Amino acid sequence: MTKRKTTTPPEKQVSLAVELGPLKMKNPVCTASGTFGYGEEYSRYYDLSKLGAITVKGLSLKPLQGNPPPRICETPSGMLNAIGLQNVGVDEFIHKKLPFLHRYDIKVVANIFGNTIEEYEAVAARLDRAAGVHAIEVNISCPNVKKGGMAFGTDLDSTYDVLKAVRGATGLPVLAKLSPNVTDVVPFAVKAAEAGVDGLSLINTLLGMSINVKTRKPRIANITGGLSGPAIRPVAIRIVYQVHRAVGLPILGMGGIINSDDAIEFILAGATAVSVGTANFVNPTAASDIVDGIKKYMIENDIADIRQLVGKVDIPA
Ligand SMILES: Cc1cc2nc3c(=O)[nH]c(=O)nc-3n(C[C@H](O)[C@H](O)[C@H](O)COP(=O)(O)O)c2cc1C
Repeated sequence: MTKRKTTTPPEKQVSLAVELGPLKMKNPVCTASGTFGYGEEYSRYYDLSKLGAITVKGLSLKPLQGNPPPRICETPSGMLNAIGLQNVGVDEFIHKKLPFLHRYDIKVVANIFGNTIEEYEAVAARLDRAAGVHAIEVNISCPNVKKGGMAFGTDLDSTYDVLKAVRGATGLPVLAKLSPNVTDVVPFAVKAAEAGVDGLSLINTLLGMSINVKTRKPRIANITGGLSGPAIRPVAIRIVYQVHRAVGLPILGMGGIINSDDAIEFILAGATAVSVGTANFVNPTAASDIVDGIKKYMIENDIADIRQLVGKVDIPA
């Protein structure tokens, strides 16, 4: 009797590669700043080369201690944080943290902030000269001390000025991380485009507050904090959708992504790539699982190239 050969069909080839302007990523999954440290802790859970990119904790010119505790609390479907941008400072990052990331086949996005335009410029210029930094993400949700402490990202002129200054300080791809704490993000996205950035990161946390009714005290020492996690996802999806339709820049979408369906939702709304944030605290392999899930979705739905899905939400006529 002749044995019948059983052959498994070859796995369908799908392309997950994307470009955020000049930043090329092998897949659209990145980690969100402040939720992945500088990558070291998570490297114990999986090979970081699995990801398209990692965005490191926000970097300032000098190291910062951050706010006093408690700095985080859990809220319905999310969390509030007021870490206060604690970080090792840009020089220590370059000399002590960045070499670790050289081991991985991964794009490194350095998130930066400052209290003055000159600080932003100085941090960007230092990173520009550092080997192994592939892009700069500019967090503009920070107080502008020269303008009475109002956040750069809630004033159109300050948004333009700070982004233009960073653009002038580096030849690296620049992503502007816009604040959702404004009535309409679209005019800010337009200003960012005018300043010459290569892409937009949407969204940062939403300003929130939580009170313990037993103690009658705020749950975090800073009183208010940034809300993140699935609770903010519909807001983030709405902003990505509105900005994608209005502005031609590629978008790195984030806000409450827990699984690959959430990531696809952002892509359909108009994001070219996505960042995974709060989910890393719940499931340390979340970002890696999302890469697998996106690939599975593409195979099951006959999508050869992930770029085909960008902005393809089906809006009834
Ligand atoms: C603990 C914590 C720290 C964060 N630190 C930063 C930061 O340093 N710079 C920044 O631009 N965004 C920071 N973010 C915002 C995230 O990068 C992200 O924009 C936001 O949390 C929404 O995504 P998520 O809901 O998936 O967490 C932080 C968020 C959290 C929860």
